[in-house]
Parts: sequence; C-alpha cells; structure tokens
Amino acid sequence: MDANNKKVALVTGATGGIGTAICKKLASNGYTVVANYRNLAKAQEWQNKMKTEGYNIAIFEGDVTDFEAVGKMVAKIEAEVGSVDVLVNNAGITRDGGFMKMTPEQWREVISTNLDSMFYCTRHVIAKMVANGFGRVINISSVNGQRGQFGQTNYSAAKAGIHGFTKSLAMEVAKKGVTVNTIAPGYIGTDMVMAVKEEIRNKIIEGIPVGRLGSPDEIGDAVVYLASDGAAFMTGANLSINGGQHVY
Ligand SMILES: NC(=O)c1ccc[n+]([C@@H]2O[C@H](COP(=O)([O-])OP(=O)(O)OC[C@H]3O[C@@H](n4cnc5c(N)ncnc54)[C@H](OP(=O)(O)O)[C@@H]3O)[C@@H](O)[C@H]2O)c1
Repeated sequence: MDANNKKVALVTGATGGIGTAICKKLASNGYTVVANYRNLAKAQEWQNKMKTEGYNIAIFEGDVTDFEAVGKMVAKIEAEVGSVDVLVNNAGITRDGGFMKMTPEQWREVISTNLDSMFYCTRHVIAKMVANGFGRVINISSVNGQRGQFGQTNYSAAKAGIHGFTKSLAMEVAKKGVTVNTIAPGYIGTDMVMAVKEEIRNKIIEGIPVGRLGSPDEIGDAVVYLASDGAAFMTGANLSINGGQHVY
C-alpha cells in the first residue's frame, strides 16, 4: 500500500507493448503503478509519454535477470512508494532459432529473462504479501509454452516452466490471501508482431479462429481481473487468451 492506502502494482518490462497496456489498465483502475525498466533513456521517454496521456507512473531500474538488482529495486519501491501488493511478471524476450543451431547463450538468455525472473522478482515481494494477508502474483507466459513452436525450444521451455512455478507457489501461499496465476497470451498486436511481414502475419491470423490478433488491452483487462478482490478464489490457474488458436 502507498501513503494514500492505494494498492501498489509493480509491472516488469513495463515499457513494452503489453506492459504499457497493463500499466494503463491498472492505473485506470485505482492502483498506484510502478514500472520496472532496464534502459533509462527509453524509460524516461516512455514515462513522459504516459504523462501526456494522463498517467503518472514512477519508474524503477532493475534487470530482472539479476537477483541482487531486483532486491535493490524492490527495497527502493518499498521506501519511496510502499510495499508491493500486485506483481506482474511480464518482462520477456525471444531469441529464436532451430534447436540444432541454438547456442547456450540463446538458451540461457531466454530462460533467465523469462523464467529465472519469476523467482527473482517474486522472491523479493512475497514475504510482505504473506505478512499483509493480501497479494497478487500474475505471470505472463505464452500460448507457445502450452503448445510448443518451431524455433522456440528455449522460449517454450521457459514459458511452460512459468506455469509450473505458478501452480506450486499458489499452493504454498493460498491460505495467506495471496493468489498466483498465469496468463498465456496468443498473438497480440504489439510492435513486435506488427513488424512481422504482412504476408506471414496474415498466415498467423488465418490460424486464429476469432480472425484477428489480440490487443494488449485485452491482456491488461485480464490482469485487472486477476488483481481484483473478486478473483480471490482463482489461484494456480492458467488463463488462455489466444482467440481460440489453442484449445485443450
Ligand atoms: N506480443 C505477443 O504477441 C506475446 C504473446 C505471448 C506472450 N507474450 C509475452 O508478453 C510479455 C510482454 O511482451 P511484449 O510483446 O510486450 O514484448 P516487448 O514489447 O518486447 O516488451 C518486453 C519488455 O521486457 C523488458 N525486458 C526484457 N529483458 C529485461 C530484463 N532483463 N530486465 C528488465 N526488463 C526486461 C523490455 O525492456 P527493453 O525494452 O529495455 O528491452 C520490454 O520493456 C513477454 O513476457 C512476452 O513473452 C507476448
């Protein structure tokens, strides 16, 4: 909680396509949002843009692949804003490549950013959530962690691992008012996906029964729900938001 008794939500990878939408949705729903970043110039530009759109969002540096750095970031947030009530583990990267040519660096970078970060960030906020009797941990996975994808053994392994983490931690903290859930987005119309050649993008869309890409706001809305008091009975779940691309 911050000084005004507003819940504090920390979003990692906040300056990205989905992270930005999550921040705006949480801010519009009464949370004090703090944004994690690793590139100061980019984060400041982002923060200014948010300000022009009416969102006042504090930014905090922290490489989510560095346990100590995340610890320092969380301590700073606690000192300057308040303890974290909602953690959205959203930072992620891809380093795609066929398995036969995949390098250990491609493997480690992806596992570290997408999966180690879950442990590093959550580990630093969970004790306070348990002590406060309230907490929400929301982990952003991917449809490709559920179904696999050519050229993404690293990414799919990390994203599948996220949900194992979610399920186990959910059990450990369930009696303490803390929920832990996964969101598995399908293809979302972020800059990254819009940069894919139109022809290839159209092929992807053909495989989505709803007939379009998802919007970052649709992920943001799900985060707002999972963060809410109304979602107290939902824990250990994996919310698929993929336009029907993968049903099981
Ligand atoms: N877009 C999709 O269609 C889609 C589909 C399924 C799942 N997802 C998942 O959704 C999440 C957000 O994706 P997006 O499309 O919004 O990607 P994005 O625009 O590339 O944003 C990723 C964010 O993560 C940050 N980040 C990367 N490595 C970091 C590190 N070591 N420490 C701190 N921050 C770091 C990036 O910061 P920098 O800008 O400084 O690198 C950026 O702000 C990811 O976990 C992704 O895997 C996306």
